[in-house]
Amino acid sequence: MRIDILTVLPELLESPLNHSIMKRAQDKKIVEINVHNIRDYASGKHRQVDDYAFSGGAGMVMMIEPIFKLINKLKAEREYDEIIYTSPDGEQLTQQASNILSTKTNIMILCGHYKGVDHRVREHLITREISIGDYVLTGGELAAAVITDSIVRLIPGAISDETSALSDSFQDGLLSPPVYTRPSEFNEWKVPDVLLSGNFKEIEKWQFNQSMERTEKLRPDLLDNE
Ligand code: ADE
Repeated sequence: MRIDILTVLPELLESPLNHSIMKRAQDKKIVEINVHNIRDYASGKHRQVDDYAFSGGAGMVMMIEPIFKLINKLKAEREYDEIIYTSPDGEQLTQQASNILSTKTNIMILCGHYKGVDHRVREHLITREISIGDYVLTGGELAAAVITDSIVRLIPGAISDETSALSDSFQDGLLSPPVYTRPSEFNEWKVPDVLLSGNFKEIEKWQFNQSMERTEKLRPDLLDNE
């Protein structure tokens, strides 16, 4: 899989994409992530990427021209399954959406910034708009990192124990059960006996009941949607 991220602030993506599972997945060539600086496609001495809104008011708007040039260059090189724009008014990211995106071959993510992007980009160049939640970030870079992380960890081979991505919270519409590790007793706080029993059937039953209980208590809305 290949993910191209288009941004005016590539520095913001360096750390989240180059550590832990993201780094390993790239080293293992499971995914190729390319970060492109939109400013490299801007013209003029000042390589301007934003300008005032025609409607007036405070805040700058990302210009169409450099984005158009960059998107067209990438599209000439390969076909893209999705060209995503990160925006608080997009569809909200869900585990199901990430599952589907993780099966794609080429994805582009355009990070929004400033007051937004010239609307013609959204009308003519973007295939999908994704929000990571009902709050406003300074820019779309963190959202792009979240989307990328949630996709990449699902690609087979990205996580060494390949069953662990499937047992994530939300994968079966439920929250994950609690987990414990050694020591089995700390400060008189004990790990539930069943987990030390070695009886995997009982452990599975306990885990399912815990998942149900936690979901009912913490996220009852997940059960309503079924
Ligand atoms: N850009 C600013 N806020 C955002 C959000 N909540 N999701 C995606 N992109 C954003």
